[in-house]
Amino acid sequence: MGSNLVITKEIENYINNHSVELSAVQKEIILYNNSLGDIKRMQISISQCHFLHLIVKISNIKKILEIGTFTGLSGLTMALSLPANGELVTLDKSSERNKIATNFFKKEKQEKKIKSIIGPAIESINILKKKGKKFDLVFIDADKENYKNYYNQSFDLLEKNGLIIVDNVLWHGEVVDSKKQDKLTTIIRDFNSYINKDKRTENLIIPIGDGLSVCRKL
Ligand SMILES: C[S@@+](CC[C@H](N)C(=O)[O-])C[C@H]1O[C@@H](n2cnc3c(N)ncnc32)[C@H](O)[C@@H]1O
Repeated sequence: MGSNLVITKEIENYINNHSVELSAVQKEIILYNNSLGDIKRMQISISQCHFLHLIVKISNIKKILEIGTFTGLSGLTMALSLPANGELVTLDKSSERNKIATNFFKKEKQEKKIKSIIGPAIESINILKKKGKKFDLVFIDADKENYKNYYNQSFDLLEKNGLIIVDNVLWHGEVVDSKKQDKLTTIIRDFNSYINKDKRTENLIIPIGDGLSVCRKL
């Protein structure tokens, strides 16, 4: 078995420079996030943008739920990949961050496709469930403590063959380091085992960014 390529910063830049070009507003969000200091790490990576773009395009996805808006990069990326009649609902507990994201959505003229709900995501998802909303794709990228709850709630909102994509499942590689026994690493490890054993879906982990788990509802 050949060894896998280690993705250095230089290779990452090369990949980004030889893949679909991001829009001016996507680039602006990344610049803005860079100005935020450490929390810029919350944003998905550019390779993950490319992956989400492709998956939305090729899977005939029309309705997306995003859990964790932040400043809007992942939401805007997926909205741009949707057809004109597509819809993205994005959830975040922070009204301050939502305001920033909404400005970027308007700047890109995507505000008609994107509906933001502010509040604890568990509650927002319950409201969507009561309304009978269904989605083709759920992207989970919020508080790790609730990942299992979000996954189970999302399952109920998903159309058959729908996808749940979850970020940070490799947790900077720490999931395989037995010396790391802190709370969040353990939560991510437990979560990965849980979804892998779940007979209602089939899943695979893709090693881009901090690791994406892609789960298909059977
Ligand atoms: C990792 S960031 C999302 C990054 C975003 N997907 C992107 O690429 O730009 C996580 C977001 O989840 C939000 N969040 C954390 N806990 C939450 C909760 N319980 N309910 C709703 N939102 C939450 C945070 O406010 C933060 O904006």
